[in-house]
Amino acid sequence: GRLQSAASEAELTKIQQVEAHFQQETQAVSAGQYVVEDAEHTLVEPSDEFRKTALIPSLEKYDALYKESVKDPDAFWSRIASEFYWKEKWEVNDGKIHTENFDIREGPIKVEWFKGGKTNICYNALDRHVEAGRASDIAMYWEGNEPGYDSTVTFGQLLELVCQVANYLRSLGVKKGDAVVIYMPMLVELPVAMLACARIGAIHSVVFAGFSADSLAQRILDCKPKVVLTANGVMRGAKLINLKSIVDDALAQTKKQGHAVETCLVYGNEVATKKEETAWVGERDVWWQDVIPSQASRSEVEWVDAEDPLFLLYTSGSTGKPKGVLHTTGGYMVYTATTFKHAFDYRPGDIYWCTADCGWITGHSYLTYGPLLNGATVVNFEGVPTYPDAGRCWEIVDKYKVTIFYTAPTAIRSLMRAGDEPVKKHSRKSLRMLGSVGEPINPAAWKWYYEVVGDSRCPISDTWWQTETGGFMITPVPGAFALKPGSATFPFFGVQPAIVDENGKELEGECSGYLCIKASWPSAFRTLFGDHSRYETTYFAPFKGFYFSGDGCHRDKDGYYWLTGRVDDVINVSGHRIGSAEVESALVLHPQCAEAAVVGYDHDVKGQGIYAFVTLVEGVDYSEELRKALVAKVRSQIGPFAAPDVIHWAPGLPKTRSGKIMRRILRKIAANQIDELGDVSTLADPGVVEQLIELKGK
Ligand code: WTA
Repeated sequence: GRLQSAASEAELTKIQQVEAHFQQETQAVSAGQYVVEDAEHTLVEPSDEFRKTALIPSLEKYDALYKESVKDPDAFWSRIASEFYWKEKWEVNDGKIHTENFDIREGPIKVEWFKGGKTNICYNALDRHVEAGRASDIAMYWEGNEPGYDSTVTFGQLLELVCQVANYLRSLGVKKGDAVVIYMPMLVELPVAMLACARIGAIHSVVFAGFSADSLAQRILDCKPKVVLTANGVMRGAKLINLKSIVDDALAQTKKQGHAVETCLVYGNEVATKKEETAWVGERDVWWQDVIPSQASRSEVEWVDAEDPLFLLYTSGSTGKPKGVLHTTGGYMVYTATTFKHAFDYRPGDIYWCTADCGWITGHSYLTYGPLLNGATVVNFEGVPTYPDAGRCWEIVDKYKVTIFYTAPTAIRSLMRAGDEPVKKHSRKSLRMLGSVGEPINPAAWKWYYEVVGDSRCPISDTWWQTETGGFMITPVPGAFALKPGSATFPFFGVQPAIVDENGKELEGECSGYLCIKASWPSAFRTLFGDHSRYETTYFAPFKGFYFSGDGCHRDKDGYYWLTGRVDDVINVSGHRIGSAEVESALVLHPQCAEAAVVGYDHDVKGQGIYAFVTLVEGVDYSEELRKALVAKVRSQIGPFAAPDVIHWAPGLPKTRSGKIMRRILRKIAANQIDELGDVSTLADPGVVEQLIELKGK
């Protein structure tokens, strides 16, 4: 399909482009002080003090475990899985606990781990710790958007809350295998809702509460839940977001299109919106506070097969329709817990803060499941890192004595812009470990994070992974080896990366190419919901025998991996994946837009920004008003986070004679690399390029 052709479109130039971007950006963002002259040759060793207590304190130990994990994955993962509670043990056939086919030439793609095993991830994340006498230990600190609003939840309390929601969902007839859509802000009730679904074997599908009504409706129509969970409103920074009216709009749309949601459970978040000011659909809407507290605080566990679905999470691909990434229970449980433990060198007593929202995979694997499975204390922050000011994060770190802090490069870069002062004002002495996720971290931002935030004391785990992979794939194991600023370092246990060229040939040693994975790992996604053939063609057809990540990658002479960004039509804006095609479809819904082509371009803070070339309908003139209307169209179709940063008026688009848009040229124009347009002779109308260059900035 489309990704396949995009991938073969000499996209390796993209890798060089992103590498060049690192050099440029280093200068643009930093005041000179944080430039890393030669990141590839900069080794940052863990301190002796860190190493002394580290779970994996040497390269030899990492190497030995890695070798075992690849040579005998079944033995390696069975040993780790045995640390969890299984109602019934998994099947072992010929010493194997997993089956897989990663090669479409050999038949359908298939991955299974721990099949036949019966367990429950909610039981392992909560009951197991309560039964071990940890009921009064703190599971979650909740910190509200507004300073001064907070709460503390113990494992015992969290379990009770989860049981109450589980009982209520059961009372509505929700059962094992049913989908439940959750569209909630970062209240304690959001992870509670997820765990409640897991407890009864229902499949949760969390939709980030920044998506528009149309996007929410599209997802509901795909997985057809009986019940939708939401809140009436939320404050994000200084802004009020009226979630309930977005849900009302979405549910009206799905009803018209044949799927009526029976119950909408609404958490009354009165800090944001008064209950009496909330629009209500009597026969459908129920206040959380009216029905949940009266439920029994114990609830039976639904024992599910390791291969029963746990959740669906929609993500962007290179075509307009979002993909429902499906994860199952057993492998996901074992893998997220283990990666959390080793990538952050977790030990009891740590206070762990992940700034991600549960609407994205990071909030699933590393705010909810991974840490809670380890019995960790998690900080759940409702707000944004810069509200009310740039010191908020460090204030929170000091308030809860956070030891592990995990965030995204875009947040680091925006905090870096505010200078060192807001950081240095706060002690941060509790910190011992930092993490980064979502996009490549440029060496200058890495250095600032390391030196200023971590006082050159805390290792940084730059974790590369994806919604599809469920857990970390390439990540430091911080006590074991030296870091390099901007490198995700080495594969996690059981992960076999392969860098391939455009013909799918695996490259050896120092090289650059497409990042693939050779064999399955426990938390690999099992399918795209309702579309197994799209799963196969998107991820397994481009390079036969491999899972294709969609990312470009460089491996240096020491074997360190350097992720260089997407090589397909996915744009990574502030760590959020947005498909070019999604933005294009939104733009062409505007009656005056005839055609649109969208590409990413380097953005100092967001990593990538959205650059839209727009051709108007005959006879319509450009105007500022129209520009605003087009941006508004994208906001309402997808969500505010997908709004184009640039609209470039395009009388025509560069197309080949067969009508294919040459994005390569558009990317160059967006990046201001007019001298590097390359060969334009294959264009149907080479004059188009001149016109576009003339209209840049207009
Ligand atoms: C990018 C987020 C470089 C990458 C967990 C990937 C990264 C996409 C990193 C997945 C990292 C994520 N270094 N790039 N440490 N982490 N990415 O599905 O392009 O929202 O393919 O999962 O983010 O985004 P997703």
